[in-house]
Amino acid sequence: MTASTPTTRAKTVKTSTAKTAAAKSNSSNSKTAPPPMFGFKAGSGAAVKVSMGSPVPSKGTTVAVVAVLKDGVLSAAAKRADVDTEGLISAACKLDAQLGKTGTLRTVLNTGNNAGVSAYVLVGLDDAEKLTAKALRKATDAACAAVKSLKPSKVFFALNQELPADCDDEDAASLCARTIVEHFYTFSACRKQEEEPAVLPTFELAATKSTEKAVDKGVRTGVAVGIGMQLTKDLGNLPGNICTPNYLAETAKAMAKQYKLDVDVLDHKKMESLGMFSLLSVGKASSEPPKLIVLKYNGAKNAKEAPVVLVGKGITFDTGGISLKPGANMDEMKYDMCGAASVLGTMKAVAELKLPINLIVVVPTAENMPAGNASKPGDIVVSMSGQTIEILNTDAEGRLILCDALTYVERFNPAAVVDVATLTGACIVALGHINSGLYSPQDDLANELLEAGKRALDTAWRMPLDEEYHEQLKSNFADMANIGGPPAGSVTAACFLQKYTKAYNWAHLDIAGTAWHSGKAKGASGRPVPMLAEFVMARAKA
Ligand code: BES
Ligand code: MN
Ligand code: ZN
Repeated sequence: MTASTPTTRAKTVKTSTAKTAAAKSNSSNSKTAPPPMFGFKAGSGAAVKVSMGSPVPSKGTTVAVVAVLKDGVLSAAAKRADVDTEGLISAACKLDAQLGKTGTLRTVLNTGNNAGVSAYVLVGLDDAEKLTAKALRKATDAACAAVKSLKPSKVFFALNQELPADCDDEDAASLCARTIVEHFYTFSACRKQEEEPAVLPTFELAATKSTEKAVDKGVRTGVAVGIGMQLTKDLGNLPGNICTPNYLAETAKAMAKQYKLDVDVLDHKKMESLGMFSLLSVGKASSEPPKLIVLKYNGAKNAKEAPVVLVGKGITFDTGGISLKPGANMDEMKYDMCGAASVLGTMKAVAELKLPINLIVVVPTAENMPAGNASKPGDIVVSMSGQTIEILNTDAEGRLILCDALTYVERFNPAAVVDVATLTGACIVALGHINSGLYSPQDDLANELLEAGKRALDTAWRMPLDEEYHEQLKSNFADMANIGGPPAGSVTAACFLQKYTKAYNWAHLDIAGTAWHSGKAKGASGRPVPMLAEFVMARAKA
């Protein structure tokens, strides 16, 4: 790579679409023209349509999803279905004592009256009094699987009428709508074009005169969060040769155009002039130049209101660098930009909802590669903050790009900064794949995020930042080392970031265990978009 490469590339992408940019990022490594699939625009896929409906299935509805409660008691929607089917629903409940229990699913074909609905999916929700949001989400997901196999065009969905204890009509509708959008997500951008693309059904959520306002609002929220998650999943699932730093930048630019946001992409030269040598050291061995992406949404009534800033780790592939990772499952390191993808997905949801808040998303992005010019263990770099870092392990690169981004965001005088990163394998050891790791020196901010996570069913667990852990980051030669040794690896990574975040309220989410699924169901999860969206929505209301 020559020194002029980044500038040349920056020039060429200025007027290009995400399509040609993706093609270019591919062609930098090969002389042949890229196949058409390389033109995929993340977040452009169809989302299942979900809208507010009426108390009964509208004309043209082919499938209806209704709840059956404890001991086969019919929900309001199931009662109506029973009338429509001339008793088929109650007959089914009499025949099968299990119906109504949590987790039961039964499809009843409407062979009775010609009411228009050809199949009813009965979903057991058990004791309505004890219904939890988690159970409603699970039931919705299961119902979607049953609906999918029926290939309907229009679906009447009434589970949102059964309210969990801590949900109102709006919350329940939002949760159901989001779950439906999530369920119908597919990623086929990198396959040969299917001859017949799958036709997505339209869902109408049950609402009455007294609930329609709340249901409508909830549906809009849930769909927006679902759409944000789709972008996050697409970016995560795209391979490293397509989703490069440049591809992330082009995605941000396309979002800026679509939602009228301000966008700024800092190239190598600009970052050099700012002194971001820690960030630059990570990307220097790659032929894909690093970038710093800044995307601004101005929705607050007072344009000068202090913004919420979200910073996302954007390592588009993490080989480990000279501290090379072992080969097994290394492909999953294409997901090392899921922090970036989640803050962009949150931005999409916020822009869709036109929330009255100022939000800035910042993505430091690079590819961590080994090469003759790569950083070596023992190298020392100067960060933008002036603090020096001894790079004892080139695989602890996330913190090296984040620290400069975290210094950069001081200029926004933020109300709060939350960084999101697939930062440490140690976080998976500590918390598995259930909770994201949450760190913050400010109890208020920590609690705000924990509560947002609970409401969104996208939870985090608070982790410590005691002064004593900082000892582990001491270096004999620089102001700090970039690793703290084996004990408490997720904590010392957070402590490293804390050294760059003294100027504002700050929280850190380690999403190494929650951003994607491994194994047979390998794929991005879209987390923690629900938590972050909930956090921003609550701030917009306050
Ligand atoms: N991206 C990884 C963390 C990671 C690993 C996330 C596996 C999800 C699954 C990060 O850059 C990394 O390599 N961290 C090292 C830090 C260590 C060298 C101190 C790790 O966790 O092993
Ligand atoms: Mn790494
Ligand atoms: Zn990494």
